[in-house]
Amino acid sequence: MRAATRLALAILALAGPARADFAAVSRILTERCVMCHSGDAAPLGLRLDSLAGLRAGSRNGPVARPGDAASSELVQRIRGTRLPRMPMTGPPYLSEQEVATIESWIAGGMVGDEAAAGATPPAPRRPGPGEAVTYAHVAPIFATRCAKCHTDNGLMGAPPEGFRLTSLAETLSASDRVRVVPGHPEASELVRRIKGLSRPRMPFDGPPWLAEDDIALITEWVRQGARDAEGRPAPLPVGARVRFDGQLTGQWALDGVPLRVGPGTRIDKRPRPGDTVEVRAELAPDGGLDVTRLRRR
Ligand code: HEC
Ligand code: HEC
Repeated sequence: MRAATRLALAILALAGPARADFAAVSRILTERCVMCHSGDAAPLGLRLDSLAGLRAGSRNGPVARPGDAASSELVQRIRGTRLPRMPMTGPPYLSEQEVATIESWIAGGMVGDEAAAGATPPAPRRPGPGEAVTYAHVAPIFATRCAKCHTDNGLMGAPPEGFRLTSLAETLSASDRVRVVPGHPEASELVRRIKGLSRPRMPFDGPPWLAEDDIALITEWVRQGARDAEGRPAPLPVGARVRFDGQLTGQWALDGVPLRVGPGTRIDKRPRPGDTVEVRAELAPDGGLDVTRLRRR
């Protein structure tokens, strides 16, 4: 080995591992975060599409402290030591190497040149013809249009009706009642709300409502079984409770969806076809609705 080469290697060793530069960080954020964390609808006001946005942090304050990666909210979110874990479309989450790049940049003082940021975010990925619709396709819609209210500490304080739209598990939660019935968009309150079949229509701050193709995408996601980001459909939460408002369109149907009314059903105020009613039901093993209560509103 030549002396000059040996000297260069010795200097490199003394300097320690190279600090990641902002351009490398920006590439990761652009690919995995910016689809949600940009523009006016950025969750908690956190914009990750510029150096200034990254330094400014969210409505709750800074998300990264220069020189201190471990205590940074951003690092805790991508490591999953604070929830919901980011990116919210995960899994897959960031690779160990990507996390290390971001940590190294924060540890090195978050220096950079604004010009290294700013690649325009890729449009949310759409499923190709015949490709399954997964949570990765619909999560960006929930994140940009719904999660600002349907989260803890959102625009309305506590999540409305206790319903959070910040992760797949929360979206499908059956702890109180279900709003997504995998395989059955017609029985899913979430789908009914974005179409305006149940009121108030969502998003609550609309119009604008969701674009027609976004509504179609979410409907198709539910129809295919509310698949997770890896494509696995969710199980039907048999026995879970559902509740919605709508129009009685027959003896017995709600907006064309059959209702099973039996001896166990409590019927109040003599609802007739054409009336607006509130339906409470339990989910049968075939996805049908065993009505426990039917009430004219
Ligand atoms: C699908 C949309 C989406 C994607 C993609 C996404 N986020 Fe988020 N992010 C959210 C939502 C919604 C919240 C608010 C959730 C909550 O209530 O904490 C959030 C919150 C955060 C917070 C917490 C801010 C605070 O002050 O509490 C950080 C930090 C964050 N995201 C970083 C990232 C990073 C880094 C990435 C990419 C690796 C990323 N996010 C990708 C939707 C997304
Ligand atoms: C500006 C705040 C806000 C936004 C944004 C918003 N919601 Fe809501 N959401 C509410 C409020 C408030 C309620 C309760 C309204 C009621 O039923 O009286 C609600 C209720 C719901 C319910 C019914 C929950 C239940 O169990 O009764 C669903 C489902 C829902 N929202 C889905 C969505 C979806 C999907 C989006 C995004 C497309 C969205 N919301 C955006 C505020 C919001």
